[in-house]
Amino acid sequence: MIDRVAILLAAGVSSRMNTKLPKVLHEVTGRPMLAYVLDACRSVGVEKIYVIVGFGADQVKERFCGDEDKDIVWVHQAKQLGTAHAVMCCREHLENFVGQTLVLCGDGPLIRAKTLQTLIEKHEAEQSAATLATAVLDDPTGYGRIIRDVYGNIQGIVEDSDCTPTQRAVKEVNPSYYLFNNQALFKALSQVKPNNVKQEYYLTDALSVLIATGNKVVAVTAVRPEEAMGVNSRTQLSVASKIMQHRVQQELMENGVTIVDPENTWIDARAKIGQDTVIEPFVYIHGAVSIGRDCRIGPFAFLREGTVIGDDVVLGVFTEVKNTSLADGVRARHHSYLGDAAIGCRVNVGAGSITANYDGHHVHRTSVGDDCNIGSGAVLIAPLTLPAGANVGAGTVVSQENVDKLCAK
Ligand code: UD1
Ligand code: CA
Repeated sequence: MIDRVAILLAAGVSSRMNTKLPKVLHEVTGRPMLAYVLDACRSVGVEKIYVIVGFGADQVKERFCGDEDKDIVWVHQAKQLGTAHAVMCCREHLENFVGQTLVLCGDGPLIRAKTLQTLIEKHEAEQSAATLATAVLDDPTGYGRIIRDVYGNIQGIVEDSDCTPTQRAVKEVNPSYYLFNNQALFKALSQVKPNNVKQEYYLTDALSVLIATGNKVVAVTAVRPEEAMGVNSRTQLSVASKIMQHRVQQELMENGVTIVDPENTWIDARAKIGQDTVIEPFVYIHGAVSIGRDCRIGPFAFLREGTVIGDDVVLGVFTEVKNTSLADGVRARHHSYLGDAAIGCRVNVGAGSITANYDGHHVHRTSVGDDCNIGSGAVLIAPLTLPAGANVGAGTVVSQENVDKLCAK
């Protein structure tokens, strides 16, 4: 078994995003970009992930501090002098490491585990010092171009800003998916010079150094165009989100969920939805929402963080649910807001009924027992516990005091 680590570059300022937030924390279908890159690394079995942070380092570290992030080693790059310099910051950790080093960018959330698998297989079959996965794009603008000789061997990578007109016409690009023999990587990095328009230390130049010093470098065209995108602008962020949304929905549909109008539906990557549930058009699901089997959601429903829905639940137009559990068989077909509540089995929530969960200072919880019937236009003032089987008349304003009085009779 070969030892394998990963280095993820995430220190950049990202002037093109025009943002105060570190770029890798910008979200794609509900998760920060960096989360997808971490997933991809973990899926190919890396022991440790060295994440290079600089701009907004504390924010990035704070976002990834869960149990699943114990394999991350944070490495600081004080000044962003280029991608080669960023990798070089790992020197004290890795210079004696013997094994494979995967190098990826934190701004490439569309990376797929399968591509990394292909990269690793190629690297091992070719016994190369470095292997990179490339993509062929109709519009290669902005990416480093892969320059090959007449035999198809890679000669180097030239950044967009350094290209001659002939090089600029090359459609094969570098999505920044690299696998290195670690020792060869650090030897080459020490020879990289900032000889380019931006005067930065380019990681791509480490490949030219390797080639010039007689090491084997292999480029495998294994990246689908839609997967190659690095997110450098808000426009690219929106394109990446669309592509990811398509993947999320595709997987749900394969798992037996009907999505009536995929183009007009937005489902968070963290959502879980059961078999034979139907998602009607204009549904927006945000957060790690869980929905059971045989439900019908929407049209125009808004499900937010903390929503847990059982089986056979029907939610209709303009129903908003937040931090609430809905047990099996609940119906809330029209214009409801259910926030910070636990709604029992088979409860019917009439049109326009809401939980008044916020008193201006604090949020309070509502609990509705099994088989309650909530008439139209009811206001349930939290904190509130409604006993099982209660029947709330249309237009009632329900407080705990009222309930207690009625129950005492
Ligand atoms: C880079 C590649 C380019 C490739 C493209 C793919 C280089 C020189 N160029 O260009 O060939 O086509 O990615 O998306 O590598 N970063 C640091 N420290 C630094 C500089 C950058 O951590 O000093 C990080 C950034 O935060 C980012 C990543 O490295 O996550 C890539 O940097 P970026 O400036 O976006 O490089 P590109 O111009 O996109
Ligand atoms: Ca980039």
